[in-house]
Amino acid sequence: MSTVVAVDGPAGSGKSSVSKGAARTLGFDYLDTGAAYRALAWQCLEAGVDTLSPGDIADELPRFEYSIGTDPDDYFVRVSGEDVTSDIREPRVTNIVSVIARVPEVRQYMVDLFRGIIEAATKPGIIVEGRDITTVVAPDAQVRILLTASEEARMSRRSAELAGIDASVAAKALSDTALRERDAQDLRVIDFMNAADGVTTIDSTDLDFDQTVQAVVSLVHSAG
Ligand code: DC
Repeated sequence: MSTVVAVDGPAGSGKSSVSKGAARTLGFDYLDTGAAYRALAWQCLEAGVDTLSPGDIADELPRFEYSIGTDPDDYFVRVSGEDVTSDIREPRVTNIVSVIARVPEVRQYMVDLFRGIIEAATKPGIIVEGRDITTVVAPDAQVRILLTASEEARMSRRSAELAGIDASVAAKALSDTALRERDAQDLRVIDFMNAADGVTTIDSTDLDFDQTVQAVVSLVHSAG
């Protein structure tokens, strides 16, 4: 059984890039769970599903053929064999993903899906990142981390990420609002801002990327 490292945190906390970086350093697999919610949201959009109807969203699950790369150096997301790695980052997907992630049948399906991927992992360990990993998906993980950063730091990191895509100040301000709104929506379903019992908080506000990766790696090493 490989070591499971559970990492939760809000949007813009850097948990995807940090988890991927730490997985690389440790020689572990890396599982981005948000990608599955995004992929299902993408499928619902493509199929013209009424996303105001939880029942119609749940009806898509039997048709959801999903695969994800867990090698940190070979990341991909596929739906029905189609590569959707970049499509699932489009604003039209980001805008509705919280609605998809709120449907109880979807959450149960995803929890089972993630547990299956974790069990099938072949490397010595796997870093699993999301919102409910420390509490629901893998509460028994050997290492459980809540990665936080001040709202200001999260907004400015997200703006820096978007800089190459759209440099307009107005667009960035809009994306800050969208980020806050998405966290608010997601927080109605899962509390990923407060560490559950036994979960170690890493506050990356004053850490750079390498220092944050190192903090995760040190925790894994000290867990033995
Ligand atoms: O981390 P992300 O932005 O790619 O996540 C996409 C959405 O999926 C986000 O709105 C919250 C949701 N999500 C979730 O509910 N549980 C997870 N374990 C991961 C993501």
